[in-house]
Amino acid sequence: MSSVLQKLITPLASSPAEPPRNKVTVVGVGQVGMACAISVLLRDLCDELALVDVMEDRLKGEMMDLQHGSLFLKTSKIVADKVDVLTYVTWKLSGLPKHRVIGSGTNLDSARFRYLMAERLGIHASSFNGWVLGEHGDTSVPVWSGANVAGVNLQSLNPDIGTEGDKEQWTATHKAVVDSAYEVIKLKGYTNWAIGLSVADLTESIVKNMSRVHPVSTMVKDMYGIDEEVFLSLPCVLNSTGVSSVVNMTLTDAEVDQLRKSADTLWGIQKDLKDI
Ligand SMILES: *[C@@H]1O[C@H](CO)[C@@H](O)[C@H](O)[C@H]1NC(C)=O
Ligand SMILES: *[C@@H]1O[C@H](CO)[C@@H](O)[C@H](O)[C@H]1NC(C)=O
Ligand SMILES: *[C@@H]1O[C@H](CO)[C@@H](O)[C@H](O)[C@H]1NC(C)=O
Repeated sequence: MSSVLQKLITPLASSPAEPPRNKVTVVGVGQVGMACAISVLLRDLCDELALVDVMEDRLKGEMMDLQHGSLFLKTSKIVADKVDVLTYVTWKLSGLPKHRVIGSGTNLDSARFRYLMAERLGIHASSFNGWVLGEHGDTSVPVWSGANVAGVNLQSLNPDIGTEGDKEQWTATHKAVVDSAYEVIKLKGYTNWAIGLSVADLTESIVKNMSRVHPVSTMVKDMYGIDEEVFLSLPCVLNSTGVSSVVNMTLTDAEVDQLRKSADTLWGIQKDLKDI
């Protein structure tokens, strides 16, 4: 007596299943992890998504909830695993080459900056070109000298832009970038959607070998006169290999000073870590 399955489906291919071509693993299924997961899923960036966490119930619940949305997604395999965590940590500590370890750095700061600047100019965020470099957060460096719309440099229209003496107070936009994370956390308890979307954007450049340029953190030793082994965000070319190269951005002396200050601050913390 053959089953419904046997009567319905006639198998043709007999070759063994192939491993996934693009597998994305999200470690941690908290608010940020799940925002990354849903952003990666909605942008069809992988054929397998793995969730990893030590909290078994939560992990299984999130996996099932996503799997129930399969009809509306194009990722065929959504899995979850909890021992994987140790494998992952071991793998991380085992020393990946530095171009394979990418910190999201000022990618989100730059996205917020572009959104807020574009909003003030009445255009879409993708049409305002501006970079926030250095350290994520309070001491991030907005590159006012390069801010432009359609190649029109804003500093050429307002030489005071980005300075305290600017009558139009454009620096308020960068201040809002710095404050925005605190503000969202104060209002909703955490931030997750924007970081999830920005991580998915980085993932896309890697998975699709696009060689797009993103402000992510990389080893900056020997660049801009920085002598220490610190990671700071600079415009990096991302392809399937990881960070394939760094763009030598033209900065003003003041901007280079700010970057060096970031590097000094980080080095101050990092060198103590090394001694432990
Ligand atoms: C990735 O992109 C680079 C340059 O854009 C190209 O030379 C290379 O062949 C691509 N690699 C793969 C695996 O597609
Ligand atoms: C990424 O770019 C680098 C430098 O251009 C190149 O050597 C590497 O082969 C590229 N990666 C892939 C997967 O093609
Ligand atoms: C980067 O560009 C600056 C000019 O903006 C130049 O002085 C410097 O030598 C360049 N660095 C490298 C490594 O080419």
